[in-house]
Amino acid sequence: MTTIEKTQQYVLNTYGRFPLTVVRGEGTRVWDEGDRGYLDFCSGIATCSLGHCHPALTTAISKQAGTLMHCSNLYHIEPQADLAELIVEKVVKQPGKIFFSNSGAEANDGLIKLARRFGLESGRYEVITFNKSFHGRTIGAMSATAQPKIHEGFDPLLPGFRYLEPNNLDAVKAALTDKTVAFLLEPIQGEGGVHAMTREFLEGLSTLAGEKNLLLLLDEVQCGFGRSGDLNGYDTIAPGLVPDAISWAKGMGGGFPIGAFWVAEKHAALLGPGSHGSTYGGNALACAASKAVIETIISEDLPGNAKAREVQIRETIARWNHPAITEVRGHGLLIGIGLKLEALKIPEGKIPSIHLCSELLEKGLLVPPAGPDTVRLLPPLNVTNQEIDQALKLVREALDTHLA
Ligand SMILES: Cc1ncc(COP(=O)(O)O)c(C=O)c1O
Repeated sequence: MTTIEKTQQYVLNTYGRFPLTVVRGEGTRVWDEGDRGYLDFCSGIATCSLGHCHPALTTAISKQAGTLMHCSNLYHIEPQADLAELIVEKVVKQPGKIFFSNSGAEANDGLIKLARRFGLESGRYEVITFNKSFHGRTIGAMSATAQPKIHEGFDPLLPGFRYLEPNNLDAVKAALTDKTVAFLLEPIQGEGGVHAMTREFLEGLSTLAGEKNLLLLLDEVQCGFGRSGDLNGYDTIAPGLVPDAISWAKGMGGGFPIGAFWVAEKHAALLGPGSHGSTYGGNALACAASKAVIETIISEDLPGNAKAREVQIRETIARWNHPAITEVRGHGLLIGIGLKLEALKIPEGKIPSIHLCSELLEKGLLVPPAGPDTVRLLPPLNVTNQEIDQALKLVREALDTHLA
């Protein structure tokens, strides 16, 4: 049986998969079973921040695997404490504490639990989230996600969420009730089509949170750790913003599964002993891997590279003046190319973005869609100028051959 056949027979069919089996990777490239190479501008959906098999990451994992892989959170774990220090001191740069999880959805569940504890005494529990958001697939994170297609068939959802239009502060002000306790949002929405929040909106929410004693919770699972062109996505949009808590996953592990959330010092006591936990959360191997990734992101100024490559992408696409592109959205290397559907000839029954991504795969470029009319570019943060040129050339060819 081929890998594709085995997957179909034995793996639960929850993913729409492209017909490709990836067997190895190096830098920005991956190879299939037939040893054909592909440029990887998907990076495990914004996860392989350093590309594939970066020596700093593989060395850290090998070394830690031979020292201590796992013990329990009943004991103190050196790589966990070191990673927490690194994130608090060098990434958030605000006093606070970290909880380690294994994924982004779990990190967001932690933020929801924090909000519930924060509102406990005043009887408040309602968290405001925003249309087209994506916060994960656990029942909590899924209920926070304001996308009907994610909820379909899973009622009753976790109660206590209110979904509003993003970038509309007046709508938020009008929706506050005596039950509202927090705002939860992605500074740059990823899965929902690459939509960035505005500076006015983030700062307005922060002011409102201060005035009304609400929590400002930021989901940086996709846009954090350098992807936006700064260490924090919110730094790119609203420098100086001070959230109450932040969730991460994806890029912080460079491909090793890990998630986390930070809680500002003033709220840290809300989650005390026995209130939250995870067997694997803060595992020694995962923390050693993440520490190597974050140290490399900082020492090699990969946010700086993300910014420079964003400029290159925007300038190149602007020069094309392409009839099938509406706009380029996002920040850093979380980029969405908006498609003008009327200008494209797409076979009937096919979703335009997925059809184009399939064509690009055939041409040797991996890119993920983001909704029906957006193709995302999520290369590793150390992608080179030449690799961007190669990928954009393929994108242009694919668009040109599909012009109506
Ligand atoms: C912004 C955001 N939050 C949460 C998640 C869920 O993360 P995970 O798949 O690690 O649970 C994702 C995943 O795409 C995401 O993009």
